[in-house]
Amino acid sequence: MNTPSENIINSIRAQFPALGISVGKHKLVYLDNTATSQTPQRVVEAIDRAYYNTKANVHRGVHTLSQQMTLLQEEAREKARAFINAPSVQEIIFTRGTTEAINLVASCIGRDWPDGAEVIVTEMEHHSNIVPWQLLSRPGREIKLRVVPTDEHGVLDMNTYRNLFNSNTAMVAATHVSNVLGTVNPVKEIAAEARAHGVPVLIDGAQAISHRAVDVQDIGADFYAFSAHKMYGPTGVGILYGRRDLLEQMPPYQGGGEMVGHVTFQKTTYAELPFKFEAGTPEFTAIAALSQAIDFINETGYDLINAQEEYLLQYTTGQMLKRVPGLRLFGTAPGKDAIISFLIGRAHHYDTGLLLDKLGIAVRTGHHCAQPLMQALGVEGVVRASFAVYNTRAEADYFVDALCRIAPMLQ
Ligand code: ALA
Repeated sequence: MNTPSENIINSIRAQFPALGISVGKHKLVYLDNTATSQTPQRVVEAIDRAYYNTKANVHRGVHTLSQQMTLLQEEAREKARAFINAPSVQEIIFTRGTTEAINLVASCIGRDWPDGAEVIVTEMEHHSNIVPWQLLSRPGREIKLRVVPTDEHGVLDMNTYRNLFNSNTAMVAATHVSNVLGTVNPVKEIAAEARAHGVPVLIDGAQAISHRAVDVQDIGADFYAFSAHKMYGPTGVGILYGRRDLLEQMPPYQGGGEMVGHVTFQKTTYAELPFKFEAGTPEFTAIAALSQAIDFINETGYDLINAQEEYLLQYTTGQMLKRVPGLRLFGTAPGKDAIISFLIGRAHHYDTGLLLDKLGIAVRTGHHCAQPLMQALGVEGVVRASFAVYNTRAEADYFVDALCRIAPMLQ
């Protein structure tokens, strides 16, 4: 697809009230989309509607309001299913976010793993796809992480990956897109290799879902996790897709209301999927609004989203390389997503971020919850600019101009 016209992007921007605000004396230039995206009005309105008109607990009442709220939640589940082409709504579990989704899988699937069980992860994992697996270790049972390295561009070393499997391998847990490098990992190949060894695979889709169509069946993922707030949706909602037979074998994650069949003081039976994994009152008002975020992406179309983000990535990277003195880029994998991590000379990432903020530009600085990757890159942290479909070339220019302006202060 050709680069979308300014008019098209402006009509998308008009749906996001937050993009019009000022930060100090400057208009906001929001380039922290990887941390969380901004939210279109229709999503906020859906939350409002739920609070004003249908707020009642779901799956718990015969009264009209409860039934209406339940319907809205279950409509969102069906939309989420279709969005990632999962076979059944029973395989769509609502969580608080990607982090909780991964913790759920780790603690349930790994509960009975033997001492010495191994989980293959990649060097570019977010802490939320490292620590949940480490938490499975306890006295007398050590769970080991085996790490797939990346090359100097941020591309996974797939030969090493293939050689990491052995009889102790219990799981593969890999990110679809790196939140630091922007690398899009070959998840289909990763999943196929895991399947060939009879090992389940979890894909962390937090950074992929807002940029590309995801088909969990085509990928061959046993588990796929993502968060609504990074895909133009509400905070507090995550989606875990899990293969039905695996979910059925796994014990529940938490105990409480909704996840039970029958409870006595002697014994409890569990509810059918997906409710077995949804203890307690879900974030139903936000879940209802998730439908609107999915509709927004579907109506905008991934082709357009990709075209705009790809344009901004190429344009901004080119301008930065040409104009910003002392620039160091981290993550240059072919086909990477629109995430630019960098440092300027010997400047501390935090100082760069602060100066950009003074000019109204929101970027993220630090280790990005990927400390092992920072260690591999030999840095303490980086500055990260990340784009969404609503960002413009004018914003990219303003950002690069700002870098040129602050660079001399940072040397
Ligand atoms: N994981 C999010 C990020 O990379 C918060 O910024």
